[in-house]
Amino acid sequence: MRNRLSLDREGLAAAIACEDAAFEEALREEAYRVKVETVGPDVYLRGLIEISNICAKNCLYCGIRRDIRCQRYELSEEEVLATARAAARRRFGSVVIQGGERTDAAFIRKITRLLKEIKSIDTGDDPPLGVTLSLGEQSREVYEEWFDAGAHRYLLRIESSNPDLYRRIHPADHSYDRRLQALYDLKEIGYQAGTGAMIGMPFQTAEDMADDLLFYKEFDAPMVGMGPYNPHPETPLTLTGAPYPSAERRFALGLKMIALLRLLMPDINIAAATALEVLDPRGREKGLLSGANVIMPNITPEEQMVKYNLYDRKTLLRECPSSVDPSKRDTHICRNCVFPFCSLGEGLSGQKIVIGYGRWGDSKHFRRE
Ligand code: 5AD
Ligand code: SF4
Repeated sequence: MRNRLSLDREGLAAAIACEDAAFEEALREEAYRVKVETVGPDVYLRGLIEISNICAKNCLYCGIRRDIRCQRYELSEEEVLATARAAARRRFGSVVIQGGERTDAAFIRKITRLLKEIKSIDTGDDPPLGVTLSLGEQSREVYEEWFDAGAHRYLLRIESSNPDLYRRIHPADHSYDRRLQALYDLKEIGYQAGTGAMIGMPFQTAEDMADDLLFYKEFDAPMVGMGPYNPHPETPLTLTGAPYPSAERRFALGLKMIALLRLLMPDINIAAATALEVLDPRGREKGLLSGANVIMPNITPEEQMVKYNLYDRKTLLRECPSSVDPSKRDTHICRNCVFPFCSLGEGLSGQKIVIGYGRWGDSKHFRRE
């Protein structure tokens, strides 16, 4: 397969545009093989805590953008800590704190306090919980404050590496250059800075997607989380009526981008995004079998999880009964999970996938740097 595939811009764009099912399947198999050979069969878990859906920004594609009327929430410090403790008990190894972008002092200090507390959670024989933040663009000082408080990874998607497309999907007061600067700030401070883009958006070409892959390479990202675009019915981007690929195509593209990235950057961490699961009930598992090695089970308390409505049907996902029934918390997230509406447990316990419990799961790429 690799002999037939060239990983330059033209080759990548041709592979992205090609809709031949046999080609796509061979590509996914090859990427899975390269993953196992390079980073091993382990899948790392990051417990995703969606801390708040309050956002100061207004991205044109996003279901929790500032101007959308929806019920807003913010988890209390105790709720975040209880959720992180549950993640530690289940030996997740690390958590991701994700939320809308806020730059007010109260929120910033809250995150700083939380980081210190999460780092002191008793994890038994495991290392302290790793913490990834995904809280948007902040000043360099704030990134430093959070790094000093214990965060060691930060996810900030570039959303599109094409500045023109970036402009089309964001309001005028958003800036591509500022976002890029934020990514370089994170890297300089010492974070493992992860990035990613949406796949299958209106106006997006195969060349744009090829450029996204080359952007990850150029930025030398130790981790990438990218996923299919899923329209939200009330966003300006959906309301323009601009066409975008079918759900089936966006799903196939999502897997193909993972596979191509694994071939391009064999030793990085690649997440199988939740957006895949919305398009296919076994979406993330298929992501893992296409070369991804990180999965972020959503452990946000159920009552709030349903309000983090980034895109259509996201809130229909039921991660695991442990989010409904706290008595199951210690046994049923991705461990011996037997519940029919959660495909993760079953899929992950399959022979091809091994869960790296209790480890941070830093990318080999980052450790080597
Ligand atoms: N479809 C897919 N992903 C989306 N995000 C926001 N809106 C959508 C959408 N409609 C993603 C963005 C953001 C992350 C938190 O959610 O890429 O970085
Ligand atoms: Fe806010 Fe992120 Fe949604 Fe943009 S994508 S509106 S920054 S939550």
